[in-house]
Amino acid sequence: MKAKEEWIQAALAAQKNAYIPYSKFPVGAALISKDGTIFSGCNIENASFGLSNCAERTAIFKAISEGVREFQHLVISGDTPEPISPCGACRQVVAEFCAPEMRVTLVGRGEITKETTVGELLPYMFTSKDL
Ligand code: THU
Repeated sequence: MKAKEEWIQAALAAQKNAYIPYSKFPVGAALISKDGTIFSGCNIENASFGLSNCAERTAIFKAISEGVREFQHLVISGDTPEPISPCGACRQVVAEFCAPEMRVTLVGRGEITKETTVGELLPYMFTSKDL
């Protein structure tokens, strides 16, 4: 299997673990470190809705808390007719840890995927350089 296909499968597998009793909207993510380790994540909701965590942030927080900080790719998947559009909060968190040139693959329920980058997802981003 090609690496990218494996990464997409990892996001889709994590999507199946989504804890979504409230929205019923499953999301998966697979964040790939520079050395090829896959950190997957799903959205995890809470009865206190605002405490819900998105799939992308689950994957990022897993990697960071394991001491990994260098990444080469992110896949985000959703049960959406078109490739999923990640939320603004997650774009900001992704931008904290991933270079603007880093590639991101967006996946929906169809065959068609969308290739983009961290910088395209969050133009004119606020970063540590702005502080
Ligand atoms: N969600 C994500 O996990 N990632 C996104 O980028 C968009 C939104 C989740 C949050 C919530 O559990 C559900 O999707 C509906 O908003």
